[in-house]
Amino acid sequence: MKLVLIGAPAAGKGTQAKRLIEHYNIAHISTGDMLREEISKGTELGEKVKSVMASGGLVSDDLIIEIVKARIAEDDCKNGFIFDGFPRTVVQAEKLDEIIGHIDRAVFINAPDEVMLQRLTARETCPKCGATYNKLSLPSKVAGVCDACGEKLTQRKDDTVEAGKARLKTFHEQSEPLVDYYKKQNLLFEVNGLMDIDEVTKSIISGLGEKA
Ligand code: AP5
Ligand code: MG
Repeated sequence: MKLVLIGAPAAGKGTQAKRLIEHYNIAHISTGDMLREEISKGTELGEKVKSVMASGGLVSDDLIIEIVKARIAEDDCKNGFIFDGFPRTVVQAEKLDEIIGHIDRAVFINAPDEVMLQRLTARETCPKCGATYNKLSLPSKVAGVCDACGEKLTQRKDDTVEAGKARLKTFHEQSEPLVDYYKKQNLLFEVNGLMDIDEVTKSIISGLGEKA
Protein backbone atom coordinates (compact mmCIF):
# COMPACT_ATOMS: atom_id res chain seq x y z
CA MET A 1 0.00 0.00 0.00
CA LYS A 2 1.29 3.45 -0.93
CA LEU A 3 -0.34 6.24 1.04
CA VAL A 4 0.09 10.00 1.26
CA LEU A 5 -0.93 12.02 4.33
CA ILE A 6 -1.77 15.66 3.69
CA GLY A 7 -2.51 18.12 6.47
CA ALA A 8 -1.59 21.49 7.93
CA PRO A 9 1.17 21.73 10.55
CA ALA A 10 -0.01 19.84 13.68
CA ALA A 11 -3.01 18.29 11.89
CA GLY A 12 -1.85 14.92 13.24
CA LYS A 13 0.07 13.45 10.28
CA GLY A 14 2.90 12.02 12.40
CA THR A 15 0.52 10.78 15.11
CA GLN A 16 -1.68 8.97 12.61
CA ALA A 17 1.23 7.67 10.49
CA LYS A 18 2.69 5.86 13.54
CA ARG A 19 -0.64 4.08 14.04
CA LEU A 20 -1.29 3.31 10.38
CA ILE A 21 2.12 1.71 9.79
CA GLU A 22 1.32 -0.77 12.59
CA HIS A 23 -2.08 -1.55 11.08
CA TYR A 24 -0.87 -1.97 7.49
CA ASN A 25 2.69 -3.16 8.20
CA ILE A 26 4.25 -0.54 5.95
CA ALA A 27 7.12 1.96 6.34
CA HIS A 28 6.77 5.49 7.71
CA ILE A 29 8.45 8.17 5.61
CA SER A 30 8.41 11.60 7.23
CA THR A 31 10.52 14.04 5.25
CA GLY A 32 10.34 16.47 8.20
CA ASP A 33 11.78 13.85 10.60
CA MET A 34 14.48 12.93 8.08
CA LEU A 35 15.51 16.57 7.69
CA ARG A 36 15.50 17.17 11.47
CA GLU A 37 17.79 14.16 11.88
CA GLU A 38 20.22 15.65 9.36
CA ILE A 39 20.18 18.92 11.33
CA SER A 40 20.81 17.17 14.65
CA LYS A 41 23.71 15.21 13.11
CA GLY A 42 25.14 18.47 11.73
CA THR A 43 25.47 17.12 8.17
CA GLU A 44 25.94 19.28 5.08
CA LEU A 45 22.30 18.70 4.13
CA GLY A 46 21.22 19.63 7.66
CA GLU A 47 23.16 22.91 7.49
CA LYS A 48 21.58 23.67 4.11
CA VAL A 49 17.96 23.25 5.29
CA LYS A 50 18.20 24.56 8.87
CA SER A 51 17.20 28.17 8.34
CA VAL A 52 14.37 27.56 5.86
CA MET A 53 12.82 24.99 8.23
CA ALA A 54 13.13 27.27 11.26
CA SER A 55 11.36 30.07 9.38
CA GLY A 56 8.50 27.88 8.14
CA GLY A 57 9.35 27.81 4.44
CA LEU A 58 9.85 24.77 2.22
CA VAL A 59 13.03 22.94 1.30
CA SER A 60 13.60 22.81 -2.48
CA ASP A 61 11.68 20.21 -4.50
CA ASP A 62 14.89 18.80 -6.01
CA LEU A 63 16.50 18.14 -2.63
CA ILE A 64 13.36 16.49 -1.28
CA ILE A 65 12.90 14.27 -4.34
CA GLU A 66 16.49 13.12 -4.01
CA ILE A 67 16.09 12.02 -0.37
CA VAL A 68 12.70 10.38 -1.02
CA LYS A 69 14.05 8.41 -3.98
CA ALA A 70 16.85 7.00 -1.83
CA ARG A 71 14.49 6.26 1.06
CA ILE A 72 11.90 4.27 -0.93
CA ALA A 73 14.67 2.07 -2.31
CA GLU A 74 15.33 0.76 1.22
CA ASP A 75 14.27 -2.74 2.23
CA ASP A 76 11.54 -1.81 4.71
CA CYS A 77 9.61 -0.07 1.92
CA LYS A 78 9.02 -3.28 -0.06
CA ASN A 79 5.57 -3.83 1.45
CA GLY A 80 4.54 -0.21 0.94
CA PHE A 81 4.86 3.08 2.76
CA ILE A 82 3.04 6.06 4.11
CA PHE A 83 4.36 9.51 3.26
CA ASP A 84 3.94 12.03 6.07
CA GLY A 85 4.50 15.59 4.87
CA PHE A 86 5.45 14.59 1.33
CA PRO A 87 4.53 15.55 -1.36
CA ARG A 88 4.14 19.15 -0.30
CA THR A 89 3.89 20.81 -3.69
CA VAL A 90 2.19 19.76 -6.92
CA VAL A 91 5.65 19.51 -8.50
CA GLN A 92 6.65 16.95 -5.83
CA ALA A 93 3.42 15.00 -6.44
CA GLU A 94 4.05 14.88 -10.18
CA LYS A 95 7.63 13.71 -9.62
CA LEU A 96 6.38 11.04 -7.23
CA ASP A 97 3.95 9.77 -9.87
CA GLU A 98 6.85 9.58 -12.32
CA ILE A 99 8.93 7.58 -9.83
CA ILE A 100 6.41 5.08 -8.46
CA GLY A 101 3.61 5.03 -11.03
CA HIS A 102 0.82 6.14 -8.75
CA ILE A 103 -0.12 6.15 -5.08
CA ASP A 104 -3.07 4.11 -3.76
CA ARG A 105 -4.78 6.81 -1.68
CA ALA A 106 -4.20 10.28 -0.26
CA VAL A 107 -5.64 11.12 3.16
CA PHE A 108 -6.35 14.77 3.93
CA ILE A 109 -6.52 15.46 7.67
CA ASN A 110 -8.53 18.67 7.70
CA ALA A 111 -8.35 21.04 10.69
CA PRO A 112 -8.65 24.83 11.19
CA ASP A 113 -5.62 27.11 11.61
CA GLU A 114 -6.53 28.50 15.06
CA VAL A 115 -6.63 25.03 16.62
CA MET A 116 -3.45 23.99 14.81
CA LEU A 117 -1.56 26.98 16.17
CA GLN A 118 -2.62 26.05 19.73
CA ARG A 119 -1.67 22.43 19.13
CA LEU A 120 1.76 23.04 17.72
CA THR A 121 2.84 25.47 20.42
CA ALA A 122 1.78 22.86 23.03
CA ARG A 123 3.65 19.96 21.38
CA GLU A 124 6.58 18.31 23.13
CA THR A 125 8.80 15.72 21.50
CA CYS A 126 11.32 13.21 22.78
CA PRO A 127 14.73 13.77 21.17
CA LYS A 128 15.73 10.17 21.97
CA CYS A 129 12.81 7.93 20.89
CA GLY A 130 10.72 10.37 18.84
CA ALA A 131 7.54 10.07 20.95
CA THR A 132 5.22 13.06 20.66
CA TYR A 133 3.15 14.59 23.47
CA ASN A 134 0.92 17.59 23.84
CA LYS A 135 0.55 19.75 26.93
CA LEU A 136 -3.15 20.26 26.09
CA SER A 137 -4.34 17.00 24.54
CA LEU A 138 -1.77 14.31 25.30
CA PRO A 139 0.42 15.21 28.29
CA SER A 140 3.27 12.95 29.46
CA LYS A 141 2.67 11.34 32.88
CA VAL A 142 5.47 13.37 34.46
CA ALA A 143 5.65 16.92 33.07
CA GLY A 144 8.55 17.36 30.67
CA VAL A 145 9.69 13.71 30.78
CA CYS A 146 9.15 11.02 28.10
CA ASP A 147 6.86 8.17 29.30
CA ALA A 148 8.55 5.71 26.97
CA CYS A 149 12.25 6.30 27.67
CA GLY A 150 12.60 8.86 30.50
CA GLU A 151 14.38 11.46 28.35
CA LYS A 152 13.77 15.19 28.89
CA LEU A 153 11.19 16.43 26.36
CA THR A 154 12.01 19.29 24.00
CA GLN A 155 10.14 21.74 21.79
CA ARG A 156 10.72 21.87 18.04
CA LYS A 157 12.45 25.06 16.82
CA ASP A 158 9.57 25.74 14.43
CA ASP A 159 6.84 25.29 17.08
CA THR A 160 6.67 28.98 17.96
CA VAL A 161 3.65 31.21 17.21
CA GLU A 162 5.65 33.13 14.58
CA ALA A 163 7.04 30.09 12.73
CA GLY A 164 3.71 28.29 13.17
CA LYS A 165 1.84 31.11 11.40
CA ALA A 166 4.40 31.06 8.60
CA ARG A 167 4.06 27.27 8.24
CA LEU A 168 0.27 27.52 8.04
CA LYS A 169 0.58 30.19 5.34
CA THR A 170 3.04 28.00 3.42
CA PHE A 171 0.63 25.07 3.74
CA HIS A 172 -2.32 27.00 2.28
CA GLU A 173 -0.28 28.50 -0.55
CA GLN A 174 1.86 25.56 -1.60
CA SER A 175 0.46 22.29 -0.21
CA GLU A 176 -3.32 22.68 -0.15
CA PRO A 177 -3.49 22.48 -3.99
CA LEU A 178 -2.59 18.80 -3.50
CA VAL A 179 -6.11 18.21 -2.19
CA ASP A 180 -7.50 19.05 -5.63
CA TYR A 181 -4.68 17.21 -7.37
CA TYR A 182 -5.67 13.94 -5.70
CA LYS A 183 -9.42 14.68 -5.70
CA LYS A 184 -9.32 14.94 -9.50
CA GLN A 185 -7.74 11.48 -9.63
CA ASN A 186 -10.44 10.13 -7.30
CA LEU A 187 -7.79 9.17 -4.74
CA LEU A 188 -8.66 11.54 -1.89
CA PHE A 189 -10.15 10.60 1.48
CA GLU A 190 -10.84 13.51 3.83
CA VAL A 191 -11.05 13.16 7.59
CA ASN A 192 -11.96 15.63 10.32
CA GLY A 193 -8.73 16.26 12.27
CA LEU A 194 -10.61 17.71 15.23
CA MET A 195 -11.89 14.34 16.39
CA ASP A 196 -9.88 12.63 19.08
CA ILE A 197 -6.81 10.68 18.00
CA ASP A 198 -8.46 7.21 18.11
CA GLU A 199 -11.50 8.42 16.17
CA VAL A 200 -9.29 9.86 13.42
CA THR A 201 -7.43 6.54 13.11
CA LYS A 202 -10.65 4.52 12.96
CA SER A 203 -12.14 6.83 10.38
CA ILE A 204 -9.05 6.61 8.14
CA ILE A 205 -8.91 2.82 8.32
CA SER A 206 -12.59 2.47 7.52
CA GLY A 207 -12.33 5.13 4.79
CA LEU A 208 -9.44 3.35 3.13
CA GLY A 209 -11.46 0.14 3.17
CA GLU A 210 -14.02 1.74 0.90
CA LYS A 211 -13.48 2.00 -2.81
CA ALA A 212 -12.24 5.41 -3.97
P1 AP5 B 1 7.05 18.44 9.16
O1 AP5 B 1 7.86 17.84 10.20
O2 AP5 B 1 6.34 17.56 8.19
O3 AP5 B 1 6.06 19.46 9.84
P2 AP5 B 1 4.52 19.88 9.56
O4 AP5 B 1 3.97 19.52 8.25
O5 AP5 B 1 4.47 21.32 9.91
O6 AP5 B 1 3.72 18.98 10.50
P3 AP5 B 1 3.98 18.67 12.02
O7 AP5 B 1 5.00 17.62 12.15
O8 AP5 B 1 4.16 19.95 12.76
O9 AP5 B 1 2.53 18.15 12.43
P4 AP5 B 1 1.85 16.73 12.29
O10 AP5 B 1 0.74 16.88 11.30
O11 AP5 B 1 2.85 15.65 12.06
O12 AP5 B 1 1.19 16.62 13.72
P5 AP5 B 1 1.53 15.68 14.98
O13 AP5 B 1 1.01 14.31 14.72
O14 AP5 B 1 2.93 15.85 15.41
O15 AP5 B 1 7.96 19.44 8.31
C1 AP5 B 1 8.77 20.38 8.95
C2 AP5 B 1 9.47 21.26 7.94
O16 AP5 B 1 10.34 20.46 7.12
C3 AP5 B 1 8.57 21.99 6.94
O17 AP5 B 1 8.06 23.20 7.48
C4 AP5 B 1 9.55 22.20 5.77
O18 AP5 B 1 10.41 23.28 6.04
C5 AP5 B 1 10.37 20.92 5.78
N1 AP5 B 1 9.80 19.89 4.91
C6 AP5 B 1 9.31 18.67 5.32
N2 AP5 B 1 8.86 17.96 4.28
C7 AP5 B 1 9.04 18.74 3.19
C8 AP5 B 1 8.74 18.56 1.81
N3 AP5 B 1 8.13 17.45 1.35
N4 AP5 B 1 9.05 19.57 0.97
C9 AP5 B 1 9.66 20.71 1.39
N5 AP5 B 1 9.97 20.94 2.69
C10 AP5 B 1 9.66 19.96 3.59
O19 AP5 B 1 0.54 16.34 16.05
C11 AP5 B 1 0.75 17.68 16.49
C12 AP5 B 1 0.42 17.81 17.97
O20 AP5 B 1 -0.98 17.62 18.15
C13 AP5 B 1 1.08 16.73 18.85
O21 AP5 B 1 1.40 17.32 20.08
C14 AP5 B 1 0.00 15.64 19.01
O22 AP5 B 1 0.12 14.94 20.21
C15 AP5 B 1 -1.28 16.46 18.95
N6 AP5 B 1 -2.39 15.79 18.26
C16 AP5 B 1 -2.34 15.02 17.14
N7 AP5 B 1 -3.58 14.63 16.76
C17 AP5 B 1 -4.45 15.17 17.66
C18 AP5 B 1 -5.88 15.12 17.79
N8 AP5 B 1 -6.65 14.46 16.93
N9 AP5 B 1 -6.42 15.80 18.83
C19 AP5 B 1 -5.65 16.49 19.72
N10 AP5 B 1 -4.28 16.57 19.65
C20 AP5 B 1 -3.69 15.92 18.62
MG1 MG C 1 4.95 15.59 11.89
